[in-house]
Amino acid sequence: MAALPARALQGNNAVPGTCVIGLQWGDEAKGKIVDILTPRNDFVVRYQGGANAGHTVKVGAEVYKLSLLPSGVLTPGVTSVIAGGVVINPAKAIEELDELASRGVQGLERNLKISDRAHVILPWHFAEDRALDGGVADGENIGTTQRGIGPCYRDKVGRSQAVRFGDMYRPKFRERIENICAAKNPVLAAISREKFEPLDPAAIYKQYQAFADRLAPHVCDTTEMLLTAAESGKRLLFEGAQGSLLDVDHGTYPYVTSSNSSGVGISNGSGVPAKYINKIIGVVKAYSTRVGGGPFPTELDNATGQYLRDRGNEYGTVTRRPRRCGWLDAVAVRYTARLGGVDAIAVMLLDVLSGLDEILICTAYELDGQRITHFPAHVDDQRKIKPVYESVAGWKEDLTACRSLTEFPDAALKYLDRVSELVGAPVELVSVGPGREQTILTGGLAT
Ligand code: GDP
Ligand code: IMO
Ligand code: MG
Repeated sequence: MAALPARALQGNNAVPGTCVIGLQWGDEAKGKIVDILTPRNDFVVRYQGGANAGHTVKVGAEVYKLSLLPSGVLTPGVTSVIAGGVVINPAKAIEELDELASRGVQGLERNLKISDRAHVILPWHFAEDRALDGGVADGENIGTTQRGIGPCYRDKVGRSQAVRFGDMYRPKFRERIENICAAKNPVLAAISREKFEPLDPAAIYKQYQAFADRLAPHVCDTTEMLLTAAESGKRLLFEGAQGSLLDVDHGTYPYVTSSNSSGVGISNGSGVPAKYINKIIGVVKAYSTRVGGGPFPTELDNATGQYLRDRGNEYGTVTRRPRRCGWLDAVAVRYTARLGGVDAIAVMLLDVLSGLDEILICTAYELDGQRITHFPAHVDDQRKIKPVYESVAGWKEDLTACRSLTEFPDAALKYLDRVSELVGAPVELVSVGPGREQTILTGGLAT
């Protein structure tokens, strides 16, 4: 076997691998940052989640909503990779490819790679997602996106009823579909809350064979490809989906998604070891939002919450559900920034806060009469905690036309400084609107 190239052995700084992860409950505007950073990279890699994500990229007047395809697909000459840790609904991948092609995005046949290890979402996963959400102990729904994500990951770990992309090209694919349908039908009949139509293996096989044929030019061993790329000094940008507080192990369990959406998921989802990732950018909305059920200590169920929702257009990219809104929770974000080992933060949607007399930041919690400064592990405590707020001055000025920090009112600068101090990481990007040009790079990202 050939020796690894010298560059691969030079340690952490040999290859600039960068990762963008959300530090809250998703929708922090990761898609926008990935799009901004893509031209500095050779590869953009989605490594977990699936079409539960909705990443918005605005290019001039055009707005793209990407659920499965990496946000890098909009930049010519960059290879976009859906790595093995992603769960893929092939119909959705085809729909996004077709939509992009119809809007003039070129080179997709060549530039998009799909891992043969990625798991396939099949019709029973949607049925299970519909039937099982709401099954958590206290009766409150997780409020999943109903995209079959949890059931597909569960089958992946369970192994006996899973289908990977590579399986669709093997002779036993038909038999596998038949066996899984035979096992799933009685279970679905028992758990369905709607009229149950038994799964038809012949129809499913035919449909997925057509998907497999269509996507065949994209499918390859992306782990091998990415390792070779990293070892030869190519620049990799990893695009996290969801947010760290939705991480299946470290988030507000069980009100989470089914993958490792914090920094801990990068290597297991992509196959690229951590030593190749030397910059982690944590994306923070200037306030907080959450879609679906689960604890949200700083939630504002009042006129201020509605003000944030209206100004931030806080309606789900995937499901259009109104997002729950609240003040920035610096205790939670400090926790996720530490968990992700973030080197810098990007503060997004700062423009939304204009017009408020005062802005509150949660700096601690009260739990059972005690003040705590860590994010508690159990959902019961996450529900019980009462935020302790610090008040900072608001500002009236519109920020959307600002192109440098020197144009900001003092109060906005002070807010950024305080957020950086509380979270424990420097601010290297500030966003004041959805457009590419409404982005201010500072510190390490400016160079
Ligand atoms: P993602 O899932 O993290 O990529 O975020 P989403 O795309 O779901 O949600 C972010 C939303 O905020 C999108 O509609 C973006 O176009 C929009 N957006 C991004 N940055 C800014 C910003 O700085 N200000 C405002 N007002 N909107 C922004
Ligand atoms: P992006 O990448 C916001 C939430 C769902 C639900 C929970 C579990 O756009 O930030 P799932 O369908 O994953 O089993 O749902 O996770 N959720 C998201 N919330 N942004 C996302 O993705 C999300 N992906 C999943 O609302 O509460
Ligand atoms: Mg989103």
